[in-house]
Amino acid sequence: MFVMARVLTGIQSSGNPHLGNILGAINPSIKLSKEKGNESLFFIADLHSLINIKDSNVRKNNTLSIAAAWIAMGFNYKNNFFYRQSKITEVCELTWYLNCFTPYPMLVNSHSFKDKSTNLSQINSGLFTYPILMASDILLYDANIVPVGKDQKQHLEITRDIAKTFNHQFGDTFIIPECSVDEKVMTIPGTDGKKMSKTYNNTIDIFLDEKNLKKQIMSIITDSKGLEESKIADDCNVYKIYKLIANMKDAQLMKEKYLTGGFGYGHAKKDLLELILEKYKEQRVEYFKLLSDKEEINKILEEGERKAKNIAINVLERVKAKLGF
Ligand code: TRP
Repeated sequence: MFVMARVLTGIQSSGNPHLGNILGAINPSIKLSKEKGNESLFFIADLHSLINIKDSNVRKNNTLSIAAAWIAMGFNYKNNFFYRQSKITEVCELTWYLNCFTPYPMLVNSHSFKDKSTNLSQINSGLFTYPILMASDILLYDANIVPVGKDQKQHLEITRDIAKTFNHQFGDTFIIPECSVDEKVMTIPGTDGKKMSKTYNNTIDIFLDEKNLKKQIMSIITDSKGLEESKIADDCNVYKIYKLIANMKDAQLMKEKYLTGGFGYGHAKKDLLELILEKYKEQRVEYFKLLSDKEEINKILEEGERKAKNIAINVLERVKAKLGF
């Protein structure tokens, strides 16, 4: 028999996805969603965002640009589920129930809290209970597989623990999700060679207007070798990024130009800009088109929310029946 696997993942709504997000998370997730037998639930974790972002306009704009980016990159939202976490309020109810099955020390030991808990008066309880909301995100939809980055592995363990505790006490209720961490996922270097991240302000945002995109690329840090000198491509941040998106032939060609000399970093940056504009041409058009019609994005998400809610209602009923509510 053909077994269907439900793949679920939450997307942080922290604004425009950059090249690191695209190569490291968006493309692999979309690829997984296209595998036969997989049904994907991808959602924008806007309730989690509230921990840090209190300005509703910022949150809404972030949500729209993330949604536009995923759609532009080819996520088939029609055959899958694409929704805002906040629109399926059942997740909040389930969070409360799960709160009551989560041992306090388990949260105290969670990295997401520990790392930021040096100044306790500065953090809110949302940060503390963050892993329980995440467990609800997953358990509310009977997810089988949860693709996440390494930093989220512990949260998956917490989710599994909570689900097992509940099942143990009340009989099979939740599906125990499997964590899928791609250890191979490459770290995408940013403009300064460190991991590309908003925190380091070293991103390349492929969904940026050409002028500002150019600025970002021109800011890539290189050594000070002169135009004529021979250069080692693999030591250069421009080439490291170029290589990740170019085809093998073009990458090889650039490598040889570095070695031969007479090819400066300015040339390499120009080639990188051209490559990005060419490679993501259609996606950029689609992205800007979507963002100019926010109603269309909202419609797409609302349709996903309608479908997701059906699943959520059923699972929540199952839980409430067990709890005697
Ligand atoms: N916490 C995740 C992150 O920071 C986002 C997220 C929220 C998530 N809920 C989830 C991921 C459920 C997977 C499953 O990336």
